[in-house]
Amino acid sequence: MKETLRYLAGIAGPSGYGSKSTAEQVTQGSVASHLTAIITGATSGIGAETARVLAKRGVRVVIPARDLKRAAEVKEGIQRESPNAEVLLFEIDLSSLVSVQRFCHQFLALGLPLNILINNAGVYSKNLEFSEDKIEMTFATNYLGHYLLTEMVLEKMIETAAETGVQGRIINLSSVIHSWVKRDDFCFTRLLNPKNYNGTCAYAQSKLATIMHAKEMSRQLKARNARVTINVVHPGIVKTGIIRAHKGFITDSLFFIASKLLKSISQGASTTCYAALSPQIEGVSGKYFADCNESNCSALANDESEAKKLWKQTRALIHRRLRQPSVKHL
Ligand SMILES: NC(=O)c1ccc[n+]([C@@H]2O[C@H](COP(=O)([O-])OP(=O)(O)OC[C@H]3O[C@@H](n4cnc5c(N)ncnc54)[C@H](OP(=O)(O)O)[C@@H]3O)[C@@H](O)[C@H]2O)c1
Repeated sequence: MKETLRYLAGIAGPSGYGSKSTAEQVTQGSVASHLTAIITGATSGIGAETARVLAKRGVRVVIPARDLKRAAEVKEGIQRESPNAEVLLFEIDLSSLVSVQRFCHQFLALGLPLNILINNAGVYSKNLEFSEDKIEMTFATNYLGHYLLTEMVLEKMIETAAETGVQGRIINLSSVIHSWVKRDDFCFTRLLNPKNYNGTCAYAQSKLATIMHAKEMSRQLKARNARVTINVVHPGIVKTGIIRAHKGFITDSLFFIASKLLKSISQGASTTCYAALSPQIEGVSGKYFADCNESNCSALANDESEAKKLWKQTRALIHRRLRQPSVKHL
């Protein structure tokens, strides 16, 4: 109740920010011209706003996108506002392991540093669809593609942090909806190939997996003494492409009530930008943030053994798939 009132009134939490803070406000005064960030899903919604604001603060922004025309429009908009902004565009389809691998090879070949990785892209798929790797589309895009992307650029981030002394930061976009997932429904083989598909469940499960990924990776990074953190963000409910896709299950009247609780896109990008640049969370890792403050995720999301199990299963699956002779390597 207290949390809801705080959200509705936009009352600031311990960080000094709250639900009504915008991405520009939480990064005010940040000078980040020495930083390079990869942001997925930056062709619209929260990702596009995150890219705009980070570029405004001086960050070199790398946008891997499946729609290069939209990515070029985003780049144009950023450079109109910030003429000196450096924005690099690449092609990626996060639902395809080979495409993710191809992007990583192209990016790493440039020899650029990497300080920030924002795993923001996301889909909600009302109907059951499969990726080219024959994996349920939501899980393939929201979780597996980002798992592989993170794995492939991680050593570059660790190396950059060691060379520059600047802590690397990885941010996974999740959702409060992760807490709807029941333990018995979270089964790896069913996530890949669901029996009775429900779009909202698939979305919630993929978002739970992104939290477990961050928690497990954070433990591994700490064990390696790597100067790279990984945190998770719930951006709030923001009327973007992904919410419009949910309309089928939210009735019009519910949607009307919900719309009163929606954040603007700039408010929706604030927690990501806070996690990417704020000096307040230097060294903080493995945490879940909402409204620019540390928050609580579900007991299942905090379950260490489930996260380890998911990590191992994912790693084995990805490496098995990428070794298959039918997969064209680049
Ligand atoms: N909006 C909310 O209320 C809300 C709430 C909780 C969490 N989130 C999370 O916040 C993140 C951003 O969502 P949003 O609301 O900004 O949604 P959005 O406006 O629909 O943007 C999603 C982005 O992901 C990209 N994308 C989707 N599938 C992709 C693929 N296979 N390969 C590469 N890129 C792909 C889209 O690219 P295209 O331009 O090619 O479609 C788009 O740029 C998502 O992870 C979402 O789950 C959002």
